[in-house]
Amino acid sequence: MCEIASDDAVGLVMSAPRSTLKPCVGVIERYRTYLPVAETTPVISLNEGSTPLIPAPRLSSIVGRRCRVFLKFEGLNPTGSFKDRGMTVAVSKAVERGATLVVCASTGNTSASAAAYAARAGIQCAVLLPSGKIAMGKLAQAFVYGAKVIALEANFDRCLALIRELSIEPGIAVVNSINHDRLEGQKTAAFEIVDALGEAPDLHILPVGNAGNTAAYWKGYSEYLQAGHSTRLPRMLGFQAANAAPIYYDRVIEQPDTIASAIRIGNPASWKLAKAAFNESGGAIDIVSDGEILSAQRWLASNEGLFVEPASAASVAGLLKCCSEKECVRCPLRMVSEKATIVCTLTGHGLKDIATVMSENPQPIFASANKAEILSILKKPR
Ligand code: F0G
Repeated sequence: MCEIASDDAVGLVMSAPRSTLKPCVGVIERYRTYLPVAETTPVISLNEGSTPLIPAPRLSSIVGRRCRVFLKFEGLNPTGSFKDRGMTVAVSKAVERGATLVVCASTGNTSASAAAYAARAGIQCAVLLPSGKIAMGKLAQAFVYGAKVIALEANFDRCLALIRELSIEPGIAVVNSINHDRLEGQKTAAFEIVDALGEAPDLHILPVGNAGNTAAYWKGYSEYLQAGHSTRLPRMLGFQAANAAPIYYDRVIEQPDTIASAIRIGNPASWKLAKAAFNESGGAIDIVSDGEILSAQRWLASNEGLFVEPASAASVAGLLKCCSEKECVRCPLRMVSEKATIVCTLTGHGLKDIATVMSENPQPIFASANKAEILSILKKPR
C-alpha cells in the first residue's frame, strides 16, 4: 500500500484521498480518464506510480514557520525513477500504433525505463547514450532488459538531435519527452500528490534537466485544478546544476558539466514549457553547485533515511539553499505563507549511481568475531 505515511511529528491531519485508491495498478489504470488512451489501447505496465509521499520532519523544522515538507520518492518506481510514469503511456501508445522498435537518447534513466517497458511489450529498444557519462546502475539496467546500447562520443543534446532525425523512420517510436505521451504519463505524479494531501501544495520543488518533468507536473496540477480536485496551483521552483543551467542563464550551454549526470543537459527539449510553468506559477528557476548537491544527498540519507541519486538531491539542495539565503527577495519560499505545504520530488534511487558515494572509500570497522571486541567498538563515538 503506497500513499501518505503517518506524520505525528509535523501534525498532519490526513484527509480523504480524492481518487479511489487502487494501489496495485499502474498509472494508466489509476488515471485513465486523464490520459490519451482508449479502451483498445494495449496497457504496457509494471504497476508504476503510487509512490509514497513521505513527510520530512527534519527538513520541515529547518524550513520553520510551521511549514510541512514532503518528499515524493519516485525512486520507488519499478526501474527506480519517475521515467516509468511516462514510459508506460509512451510504450503503450507506441505498441498501439504498431511500432516494433522504441528509441531514445538518455542520460541513463530514460534508457533504463524504455528498455524495461519494451521488454514487457515484447518489442525492441535501442538507446543512444553519451559514452562514459552514464551511471553504472542505469547502464546495467539497459543491458539486462535487453536494449541495444549505442554509446556516442557526444553529449546528451547531440544524442537527442540524432533521435529527432531517426523519428521519421517507419516502425520507430521515439520515447523521449519530445513525445508528449511521456509528459501525459508523468503528470500523474501531480495527481497523486493532490490525492494524498487533499489539496495542491503551496510550493513544488524539483530538479531540472531536459525540463519535461517540470512541464508535466504543471500540466497535472493545472488539469486537477480544472477538474475541481484542488483549489489552487503550487509555485513551481526548479533547480539546475550550476554548470548545466541553460534555463537559468537563458542560453544554450555547449559543454554542460555536473556530477549529477542525469541532469547534464545544455539545451533542454521542454525549455519553453518549463519556463512558462515557472513564470505562470509565480515560481523560479535557480542553480545549485555540485558541492550543494552532494551534501544534500548525504544529508537526506543520514537525516531522513532516503538515498537518492545526485540529480534527485538537487531539489532538496535547492530548498536548503533557499533556507540559508537571507537576501534573495524573489525567492518563492519567502512568498509562501506560514504552515505552507512544500513538496520536493526525489526523482531517482541512490542505488543507481553509487560511484560518488564509494569514491570517498568508506571502510567498515574490521573486527574479530568476538562479543567483547564488538561491545568496545559500540562504546566508541563514530
Ligand atoms: N532527475 C533524474 C534522476 C533524471 O534522470 C532526470 C532526467 C531529471 C531529474 C530531470 O528531469 O529531464 O524531466 O527535467 N533524466 C533524463 C534521462 C534526461 O535521460 O534519463 P527532466
